[in-house]
Amino acid sequence: MLMKLPFFKKKNSETKEESGLDMTPKHVAIIMDGNGRWAKNRGLPRIAGHKEGMDVVSDVVKVAVSFHIEILTLYAFSTENWKRPDTEVDYLLRLPKEFLHIYLPELMENNVRIETIGDLEVLPEHTKEAVYYAKEKTKNNDGLLLNFALNYGSRFEIMEAIRQIVTDIDTAKMDLDSLDEKTFTKYLYTKGQPDPDLLIRTSGEQRLSNFLLWQAAYSEFWFTDVLWPDFSAEIFKEALHDYQQRKRRYGGV
Ligand code: IPE
Ligand code: IPE
Ligand code: MG
Repeated sequence: MLMKLPFFKKKNSETKEESGLDMTPKHVAIIMDGNGRWAKNRGLPRIAGHKEGMDVVSDVVKVAVSFHIEILTLYAFSTENWKRPDTEVDYLLRLPKEFLHIYLPELMENNVRIETIGDLEVLPEHTKEAVYYAKEKTKNNDGLLLNFALNYGSRFEIMEAIRQIVTDIDTAKMDLDSLDEKTFTKYLYTKGQPDPDLLIRTSGEQRLSNFLLWQAAYSEFWFTDVLWPDFSAEIFKEALHDYQQRKRRYGGV
């Protein structure tokens, strides 16, 4: 049924008319959840699920590139994930390096620019090095912006924004009267980026888990029971197709 729609006609890059680009979300954010359960179902350690999930990222990026999505934000590690056992945290924080080691050439080929949101400072040196290298290497690419949320927490982001705003008011860099929603967003990690149009969460959980609380005010949500390691290009396209049927009203009529 999906195949009949022009949106799904071609596998690779499509023209604006062919892809129904005007209805394609500009910014898609994904809460990649369910790695642990995927591993548990197979009698494997949780980290096996994280490893499997890593490869799905590459498939999803390829779809985002071919559908001319401008920004793909992936929740990779939350400020709350530090609560997990040290060995798991350690593994999760090794994954960015591993991912980039394998996929950076492909991302370069696809003109993908890598960015991050979250507090990188407290991450292990090896994680930071790999991420900074990839950001530098891809900084002139002008295709998809692949935004990894790493040590990201929305409440922390908002608190930090407030702290900085207060400092800027104290030091007369900013005047309280000029503070409005638009100015506030300039203090967030997502500064300059449009809000997510579509927010996907896998694994059957239906919550934000401290992800993009401000930015998702008017996002369309799409949930699936599929565990992240089982997510695929096809399921992603299903979500994009579903998004195209939505009527966004933003409080209007
Ligand atoms: C998502 O999978 C990966 C991260 C949170 C880093 P989980 O590890 O949360 O998997 P479940 O939810 O326990 O199955
Ligand atoms: C959200 O998943 C964080 C990431 C996907 C990185 P969690 O698995 O940590 O969220 P909760 O604990 O189920 O809310
Ligand atoms: Mg989870």
